Amino acid sequence: MPVKILHVVGARPNFVKAAPVLRALAAYPRCRSVLVHTGQHYDREMSSVLFADLGLPDPDEHLGAGGGTHAGQTAEVMVRLEPVLLAHRPDLVVVFGDVNSTLAAALVAAKLGLPIAHVEAGLRSFDRTMPEEINRVVTDLLAGLHFTPTADADDNLRSAGIAADRVHLVGNVMADTLLGAVAEARARRVCRRWGLDEGGYGVLTLHRAGNVDDPATLSALLAAAARVAERIPLVFPVHPRTRLRMAESGLAPLLGAPTGLCAVEPLGYLDFVGLLAGARLVLTDSGGVQAESTIVGVPCVTLRERTEWVVTVECGGNQLAGTDPDRVLACAERALAGAVACHSRPPLWDGRAAKRIAAVLARELGLG
Ligand code: UD1
Repeated sequence: MPVKILHVVGARPNFVKAAPVLRALAAYPRCRSVLVHTGQHYDREMSSVLFADLGLPDPDEHLGAGGGTHAGQTAEVMVRLEPVLLAHRPDLVVVFGDVNSTLAAALVAAKLGLPIAHVEAGLRSFDRTMPEEINRVVTDLLAGLHFTPTADADDNLRSAGIAADRVHLVGNVMADTLLGAVAEARARRVCRRWGLDEGGYGVLTLHRAGNVDDPATLSALLAAAARVAERIPLVFPVHPRTRLRMAESGLAPLLGAPTGLCAVEPLGYLDFVGLLAGARLVLTDSGGVQAESTIVGVPCVTLRERTEWVVTVECGGNQLAGTDPDRVLACAERALAGAVACHSRPPLWDGRAAKRIAAVLARELGLG
């Protein structure tokens, strides 16, 4: 009898995490993977380009549940996923990271009594104003098998009362994908598209609700970025959410202004990784980009007060700047002066995390 493992993905960071796990499981002939795309991210640049870059197979099921409020989006995924889980009756449901699709899938699977594994379990920013933090806390409570990227995530799960034998420190699956792609990505010399040379530019990403939904915060952050861009050109792939908010708040003209801030469409995975790996620094509010900058050793200025990727700060390359423009500029200046460097890569961020996950699943599910 084949063992059926159903993976649920919905948003850009999920795709990056699922790709190596699906690949690692393909080495087990008894394992039949089913891929479900919730449709949370649906633009070509946010979804199908990523699938192609990551070598992900076409989803077996596409729920088309994109957009909407948090409740609307979560509920829509739940309603559309339930019959799919009932039809497939998988032996295990795997969820990734902390997006709304992760939470929705965990809730539906738990109520159907299906076992759940959570990849990237245990991370905490200890900031409940972040929707992702709520998603992490609830998903971890519902999952029966936890794959953690860092030792502090194990501590967080222990504090939440989760039994130690259900927790497996496997490392960071994002590192698997990134380390496998970075040479090809760099060879693309993406920065040339904007007339830039490697090491001669920075990268800005900005999409977190807490930063972009409030016009005052968004405009302060863009002003801070524009000040950094006076020192070094910044390439700014603009997330659809951010573009929408900028248009609503009348901030869109900022992007056309003759500053060093170069707004571009969202990039595919390989283009983004190539851009990041060749940068002098990155300014970001993304969790994934903080982790990725640590993996490629590019100094990171994080536009948030807290991070769930504590290890990236401990490794030396990530500075938590918050949203105050003076602090952002000061942190960027330190990075540009060469005073900030990643002195190490976290343990087990070695490109083999997914293989460890597959080995645990093989034991648990008798994949043989
Ligand atoms: C989501 C995740 C966030 C993750 C991010 C990566 C949650 C709570 N948030 O945030 O953790 O870091 O993905 O990108 O799950 N939109 C489009 N096209 C798309 C996708 C989104 O136009 O392909 C627009 C829509 O207006 C949508 C809005 O962006 O309503 C927000 O998208 P959503 O998926 O809700 O959240 P993200 O900000 O992308």
